[in-house]
Amino acid sequence: MSELLRVEHLKKYFPVKRSILEVLTKKEEKFVRAVDDISFSIERGETLALIGESGCGKTTTGRVILRLIEPTEGKIIFDGIDITKLGKEQLREIRKRMQMVFQDPYASLSPRMKIGDAIAHPLLIHGLADKEEAKELALQMLKRVGLTPEDEFYNRYPHHLSGGQRQRVVIARAMILKPDFVVADEAVSMIDVSMRASILELLESFREEYNLTMLFITHDIAVAKLIADRIAVMYLGKIVEIGPTDEVLNNPAHPYTLALIQAVPSIVKREKKKMIEITGEVPNAVNPPSGCRFHPRCPFADELCKTKEPELIEIGKNHFVACHHPVKD
Ligand SMILES: Nc1ncnc2c1ncn2[C@@H]1O[C@H](COP(=O)(O)OP(=O)(O)OP(=O)(O)O)[C@@H](O)[C@H]1O
Ligand SMILES: [Mg+2]
Repeated sequence: MSELLRVEHLKKYFPVKRSILEVLTKKEEKFVRAVDDISFSIERGETLALIGESGCGKTTTGRVILRLIEPTEGKIIFDGIDITKLGKEQLREIRKRMQMVFQDPYASLSPRMKIGDAIAHPLLIHGLADKEEAKELALQMLKRVGLTPEDEFYNRYPHHLSGGQRQRVVIARAMILKPDFVVADEAVSMIDVSMRASILELLESFREEYNLTMLFITHDIAVAKLIADRIAVMYLGKIVEIGPTDEVLNNPAHPYTLALIQAVPSIVKREKKKMIEITGEVPNAVNPPSGCRFHPRCPFADELCKTKEPELIEIGKNHFVACHHPVKD
């Protein structure tokens, strides 16, 4: 295996809107530290799940990696190329190889475009096929994602479809370019539970066919368990734990990971670890807590945690945790 994507010290800070009064009185500009210095890599053909509570920075991470929004600091290396500062034209070339599957398939499809045309569209804008070829490839893709009879589906509009069918269209549109890398952002979160497994299977089948590399964003740890080779846990803009899926789920080392797992009884394998309870709300990403950001909610926090930020350290093969007091058996 070789590395396809690497991010180094990636940061994305969003300025907080100031009132006119605050501007006039020269009140210091504040930032939401949505992504605050994260580093990781993904191997070719590997799926890394990025999990964590709402607002911890998952979507921002995915969007920055694809350069849909600009990073504040850090580097994005894709297939050996530093794409952090690439200009529009060069980025266009790379974009053919990187696609995003969004959370809400309804919002990401134009209501006035036939779904067949929507799937053919990326081929046309990248100049990879003429109209006739694009249509033929879109028909094949409709069949491939299970929307048959494909010539009938081609002429339908998004509002004619169920949520699961729309998500198949969005996946088809992302896959028509045979990308190397896909960011799937909550790709099954808005779909009826009964349909989720089949959509995950569809993604899995493309992964095998194209040797796809995926960043799979989800707040649902049970979904991560099904699809991911490795899991990265995010808390307030930081990665607090990262490692092979089984290792992270069976031997979680960060108290936050343990709490996330314990919230989903179906995936808790052994009750060997103390139950822990986390209290309070996710703090504000404008003024994150000092030291370890998780300390105000952590039952094991002490003075050290309040003052010193823990770094990611390797505690098992390929398993890293940023915690001064990792959970032990
Ligand atoms: N364009 C923006 N401008 C200002 N703040 C933003 C912007 N986009 C995101 N944020 C803030 O950045 C933080 C991280 O948001 P993000 O959407 O990345 O979280 P998430 O983990 O994807 O959450 P969810 O699970 O709800 O999708 C949040 O505090 C959010 O309010
Ligand atoms: Mg999100």
